[in-house]
Amino acid sequence: MYNVTLIPGDGIGPEIAAITKKIIDATKVKINWEEVNAGIDVYEKTGELVPNNVFESIEKNKIALKGPITTPIGKGFRSINVQLRKKYDLYSNVREVKSFEGIKSRYENIDMVIFRENTEGLYIGKENKIDEETVEAIKVITKKGSTRIVKAAFEYAKKNNKKVVTVAHKANILKFADGLFLNCAREVAKDYPEIELKEVIIDNMCMQMVINPNQFEVIVTMNLYGDILSDLAAGLIGGLGMAPGANIGEDIAIFEAVHGSAPDIAGKNLANPTALLLSGISMLRYLGENKRADIILTALKETFKEGKVLTKDLGGNATTTEFGDYLVDKISAL
Ligand code: NAI
Ligand code: MG
Repeated sequence: MYNVTLIPGDGIGPEIAAITKKIIDATKVKINWEEVNAGIDVYEKTGELVPNNVFESIEKNKIALKGPITTPIGKGFRSINVQLRKKYDLYSNVREVKSFEGIKSRYENIDMVIFRENTEGLYIGKENKIDEETVEAIKVITKKGSTRIVKAAFEYAKKNNKKVVTVAHKANILKFADGLFLNCAREVAKDYPEIELKEVIIDNMCMQMVINPNQFEVIVTMNLYGDILSDLAAGLIGGLGMAPGANIGEDIAIFEAVHGSAPDIAGKNLANPTALLLSGISMLRYLGENKRADIILTALKETFKEGKVLTKDLGGNATTTEFGDYLVDKISAL
């Protein structure tokens, strides 16, 4: 029996979390879900964005599946997502970008993984108001933080027989900050002579990803660049509804989609749960439940290939629950 913390989140979170849980349970994996919640809905009820039981549950179970949480802009709130990553030192944000046959998108056969540094860079929340007309935002890059994320990318490349790791940076302008990250990448690369380190400046990287994404296998980059690149990458494979993610630290892991709470479609049973479900598949693999992960993946692949039951973002007219129940039926029949 595995104990897993389930944080539905807000916006579309509760809708996609409920169906994802149902699909994972259909594989008969023995998960004891401990459901706790954070976000706007909780805040309105209790005055707290993240109640203590969320932290307690994560610390106890060490593994969580999490829906998106809205970060209100300009009200002095810090992103809960960023806080959780920092608090538990979940330094490795792994975002797989993979095409599925049957999903209309700009490219086919895309298979890349973005390793985004998840605890420092421009996301440390240090913005100083110098005066009414001037603000500075601090970017922190450390040797330790950079080395461990690059190592994670190279280890992944080694395990998965990938030949090239691309580091995306702006060391030509941010000579010290990005320069340090780049130097750490070069140092780590020396330990992996069989894998090539390719260095690409971030703006060119965006252009390259749009015109020829198939040239990339494993990408490693700093926090902000990784955030932006992963939404860009999601756009290449059918949108944010298709892009999963994992936040991995030494002993705690939180699995969540790349996308946010999608307030424009929340509460309408329209959201595509695939991104969270794929995050759930990564979670099953993390637990060593590869067979069950494959069962869900097979059901998903079949469903996409058939193209009959698809959510609106993928050009279909199925609701979140119709799509999910279709998968549940398929899995139960497998
Ligand atoms: P978003 O990712 O929520 O939505 C962007 C666009 O993609 C919207 O048009 C939305 O409808 C669509 N979309 C996203 N997920 C979808 C899905 N599963 N199925 C179908 N369509 C989907 O980005 P936005 O609007 O910038 O952010 C909304 C809120 O979410 C903000 O408060 C933001 O801070 C928060 N956020 C939270 C994250 C997290 O919890 N890890 C990550 C990103 C944003
Ligand atoms: Mg993002």
